[in-house]
Amino acid sequence: MARCFVTRQLPGGAVDRLRAAHEVEVWDGRLPPPADELAARAATAAGLLTLLTDTIDASLLERSPALRAIANYAVGFDNIDVDAATARGIAVGNTPDVLTDATADLTFALLMAAARRLPEAIADARDGDWLTWEPGRYLGAEVHGATLGIIGFGRIGRAVAQRATGFEMTVIGVGAGEPVEELLERSDFVSLHCPLTPDTYHLIDAAALARMRPTAILINTARGPIVDHDAVRAALVDGTIAGAALDVTDPEPLPATDPLYDAPNIIIAPHIGSATRAAREKMADLAVDNLLAALDGKPMPNPVN
Ligand code: DGY
Repeated sequence: MARCFVTRQLPGGAVDRLRAAHEVEVWDGRLPPPADELAARAATAAGLLTLLTDTIDASLLERSPALRAIANYAVGFDNIDVDAATARGIAVGNTPDVLTDATADLTFALLMAAARRLPEAIADARDGDWLTWEPGRYLGAEVHGATLGIIGFGRIGRAVAQRATGFEMTVIGVGAGEPVEELLERSDFVSLHCPLTPDTYHLIDAAALARMRPTAILINTARGPIVDHDAVRAALVDGTIAGAALDVTDPEPLPATDPLYDAPNIIIAPHIGSATRAAREKMADLAVDNLLAALDGKPMPNPVN
């Protein structure tokens, strides 16, 4: 039996499987464990089941001598210093595939909502500003037949492309590290699906936005820091681009006082890409499978190191 710390309550029954085999503590708060609480538990744990809100850096790993496995409850793992974990012989795993469709669906929901100005129209109806049927109001962008640029053409990027075929869109996909200039210039919608790395930090900055069409819409369901928020806000204010829909921000949560909320034609959602019941339960299953395997001395089914 090994000591495991699970940093939040998870949907479904996966954690019960972990409890059946190991001594498990689950953090009960709605908010993540503060850094000192996380470090105190990691100091004696053999296994950690972490969320993207938990920072697992080299200094925490150094103070966790018994740690053998970290199962991240996410496909992304930029919250973990994987090199430092590898150097200490700690297995790290993630939860790919099971959230691909949920995230691709939300990407399309955001794309459609931004294209058709849904948040604004819904708010006006509720606020009593639906006076009549107006020929010239709420005019949005055609999605059908438009050009969709996908930056990061992995599992989720390809799933978004698949949905775009139903709308007879032209898809331009580029893989991580490939040039994006032409894609930015040609696309009506630009959707981000690359991981956050030093190379993709602020990939979408003022220069990238300046290459986009004034009618174009940016969608980010990947990681917030891939986009320079100040540059996006400026681009929306001065009409460099027509809209932005962000499911991820920098920081998260984005404080309600952040000026980005007041930019024109912005949609901001609280990082809900994988938030379907099925996806979140399957993510818990994969994370627990990773932890059980590694604590049993076997390879994780979904390793990242
Ligand atoms: C991930 O898995 O990386 C998403 O951002 C959250 O599900």
